[in-house]
Amino acid sequence: MAIERTLILIKPDGVQRGLVGDVLGRFERTGMKIVGLKLMQMSPDLAAQHYKDHVGKGFYAGLVKFMTSAPLVAICVEGPKAIDNCRKLMGKTFCTDAQAGTIRGDFGVSRGLNLVHGSDGPEAAARELGLFFKAGELVEYSRAIDAWTFNDEDKA
Ligand code: RTP
Ligand code: MG
Repeated sequence: MAIERTLILIKPDGVQRGLVGDVLGRFERTGMKIVGLKLMQMSPDLAAQHYKDHVGKGFYAGLVKFMTSAPLVAICVEGPKAIDNCRKLMGKTFCTDAQAGTIRGDFGVSRGLNLVHGSDGPEAAARELGLFFKAGELVEYSRAIDAWTFNDEDKA
């Protein structure tokens, strides 16, 4: 099944800079489907769970401080190969290294203020979606345009 779901976060810098619509639009306009969406403030506890693999690294404290400092937008994006596709749209980790045409390359100039998070694999996506969305908060629906957006070949 090549249809995947992934967690995207528009980080506090993206919300503060008024870029929610632009960033969300980058994912939306590919044809991938928004199946979960919420504005929320990340608690220190949620940050610790979400970033558990980074505990002990030099940037961890600063990262948690940044991510809990102001509201963010959590999004569940669904589509063919959504996990890698979203990472491709986001660009390299630091805006300073990200290519033009990517979200980080087009909207950011900073290393650490890098606008978005995207799950890095199927296991992480399942785990992270479970942290941000309760059962029932992800919505199953079809769109009239689905048949013109992806076909059976993409689902195989
Ligand atoms: P993300 O998780 O945000 O989608 O980005 P990523 O996979 O490309 O980066 P990752 O290695 O998972 O790091 C998570 C976030 O931590 C911050 N970071 N800072 N100063 C540093 O060396 C450093 N390394 C990582 C970034 O905000 C990165 O997005
Ligand atoms: Mg990561």
